[in-house]
Amino acid sequence: MLQRLLTVPGVAVDTRTRPNAAPARPAKPVRRGARSSVALKLLMAVTGILLVLFLFAHMAGNLKIFVGAEAFDHYAHWLRTIGTPLLPEQWYLWIQRAGLTFAVLGHIVAATILARRARKARPVRYAHRPKVQGSYAARTMRWGGVIILLFVIYHILDLTTGDLNPVGDSAHPYANVVADFAPGRWYVTLFYTLAVVSIGFHLRHGIFSAARTLGQRTARGERRARAIALVLSVVLVAGYLSVPFAVLTGLVK
Ligand code: HEM
Repeated sequence: MLQRLLTVPGVAVDTRTRPNAAPARPAKPVRRGARSSVALKLLMAVTGILLVLFLFAHMAGNLKIFVGAEAFDHYAHWLRTIGTPLLPEQWYLWIQRAGLTFAVLGHIVAATILARRARKARPVRYAHRPKVQGSYAARTMRWGGVIILLFVIYHILDLTTGDLNPVGDSAHPYANVVADFAPGRWYVTLFYTLAVVSIGFHLRHGIFSAARTLGQRTARGERRARAIALVLSVVLVAGYLSVPFAVLTGLVK
């Protein structure tokens, strides 16, 4: 697979044999820039996969709200005790936070460097290229990423530290969530909806790109990757949005 990943246009070696031909020269080494772009794409794919795993685990945990206040609060308490007694309380949570911070920073740094390189490689736009190209998801990766980042900062101040939450009681996350999405605070639900839909678009394109980076090349594989990316994104968006809308409509109170 690595061989396939390192195949860069312009460095292909002529392997045909001719009589009296000079002995074949060793393959030209792949340019360092191209190789580091491959490493950056791998970093994007691996950090992206870590973030997707967190997103699905967090969504599954949130769905516990439909079981009831006690189950949801118990689940939140359990998150703080994972790994005990081997680890002191909350250590796992802090390890996870460190991992997520590394993944988010790595993802953003790699994306920024790759975008800059792409712009440098073609400073003049293709004259024949229409302005609107690629899928909606592909065109909104950068702004989608910014919205998601702002959302995560707001969300932590809202439901983790409680600073922006009307209840803000860390021992009772069920009460925090219900207060958060009360009908009178419809604008909070609106902001969450915008952020979660952005995550859906980001994820759809991200999963598809990661499959390519990790070696997927065939047309059939591409169709399958597109379908998987779409299904996973729809499941994620529906799972996340079910919570605020259940509170908004009074299903969860
Ligand atoms: C829209 C529905 C969502 C709900 C109802 C929700 C609910 C919660 C709650 C209750 C907490 C606090 C858990 C606790 O400290 O006990 C939390 C923390 C968190 N959520 Fe969400 N969340 C939602 C969406 C998201 C999304 C889309 C993301 C990521 C983009 C996200 C990322 C996080 C993070 C990073 C934390 C902090 C975890 C920590 O304390 O280390 N959440 N969420």
